[in-house]
Amino acid sequence: MKQNPFKYGQVVTGKDYCKRGLLEDELISLIKRGQNTVLQGERRAGKTSLIHQTVSRPTSQRLLYCDFLGIKTGEDLIQRIVQGIETIEQQESLIKKVVRFIPNLTVSVSIDPVTGTPSLSPSLARNTYRPESLTGIIDFISHLHQQSPLVVAFDEFQDCLNLKDAWATLAIMRSRIQFEDKICFLFAGSIRNYMWKIFQDPDSPFFKSALTLDVDASSLDNFSGFITRQFRKGKRKLEKGLFDRIADVCFRNPGDIQQLCAALWDTTQEGDLITEKGFSQALVHVFHNELRGYETILSDLSPQQSVVLKTLARLGGVSPLAGEFVQASGIAHTSSIKAALTRLVAKRLLFLVGKEYRFVNPFFRLWLLHKRY
Ligand SMILES: Nc1ncnc2c1ncn2[C@@H]1O[C@H](COP(=O)(O)OP(=O)(O)OP(=O)(O)O)[C@@H](O)[C@H]1O
Ligand SMILES: [Mg+2]
Repeated sequence: MKQNPFKYGQVVTGKDYCKRGLLEDELISLIKRGQNTVLQGERRAGKTSLIHQTVSRPTSQRLLYCDFLGIKTGEDLIQRIVQGIETIEQQESLIKKVVRFIPNLTVSVSIDPVTGTPSLSPSLARNTYRPESLTGIIDFISHLHQQSPLVVAFDEFQDCLNLKDAWATLAIMRSRIQFEDKICFLFAGSIRNYMWKIFQDPDSPFFKSALTLDVDASSLDNFSGFITRQFRKGKRKLEKGLFDRIADVCFRNPGDIQQLCAALWDTTQEGDLITEKGFSQALVHVFHNELRGYETILSDLSPQQSVVLKTLARLGGVSPLAGEFVQASGIAHTSSIKAALTRLVAKRLLFLVGKEYRFVNPFFRLWLLHKRY
């Protein structure tokens, strides 16, 4: 039986990757010019995959990829950069070299629970981060670049704002990076507003320090053709118009479309023509897989947040302060609705596109509707 070709929740490459011709060409030419670039887009829009795909194409540069997701301290920041370096450099020689640049790094042995293999990993002990640790590690990156050219990607860059001295740390990073005009730095981030704050707020050390590229669905070259070909691998076909229906409920987000298509694949068989009925079954399949998460979310909401979320699922998020919404929610004061919306955004259940509030997880919205909550 043919394996499900739809991949989601992970970086996609090779045959799993749908080309983004113009955007890739643009990014390659920026990299060749050494132009520092911000890649911004919604969650699951394909930023990380684009970076890997583009730098793996013949730019004759190595990718130093560092993921800042969830960093909370300066030590975490250094650790993530070291981890990135570990993936391109040989362990033993790396450790000898890197400690020359950051003397307060300590080296410990850790055992990979999956493979059981021991490895040496350099890290900073708690509360030992100093500004020199950051300048030191960037000096080390510069040293690596001189040996063989690098493209440096800092992914989930907005999470630098979690750091206690976020602005000061960004200032150090920026002042050191600006002297590395031969290295191309890519900064990717999923939360538009925060990335905006770092690169467009005049008070930010990174103000206008990089060019911005938007990663959105419009740059996917013929995504419907790509999806159709993937279905064809398992002798399945989408009924006319069904791709648009899938894309609509997923707000054209590639990650969500792939997730729904994976469910469509799992709930159908070779030779099937997939119809609206199959679409409904696939949605139920997705709900089933995600049910526990949905229930946890609901149990963590205040009564007002819950009402606002459910009303938004029904009426959409274009005008949640207008009369119809207020009436349907039964909440008397628009200020209370506004406060609930702000909390729901902070909880990352909703996000803003222009003035429209959208569900981060479109399937959660459909589940609320399905349950008639
Ligand atoms: N070019 C592409 N071709 C096919 N599918 C894609 C492509 N880009 C993204 N996807 C889909 O979106 C998912 C998420 O991709 P990726 O992790 O690259 O996005 P991201 O923007 O970095 O997401 P996040 O904000 O969660 O880090 C992939 O697993 C895949 O399902
Ligand atoms: Mg990513």
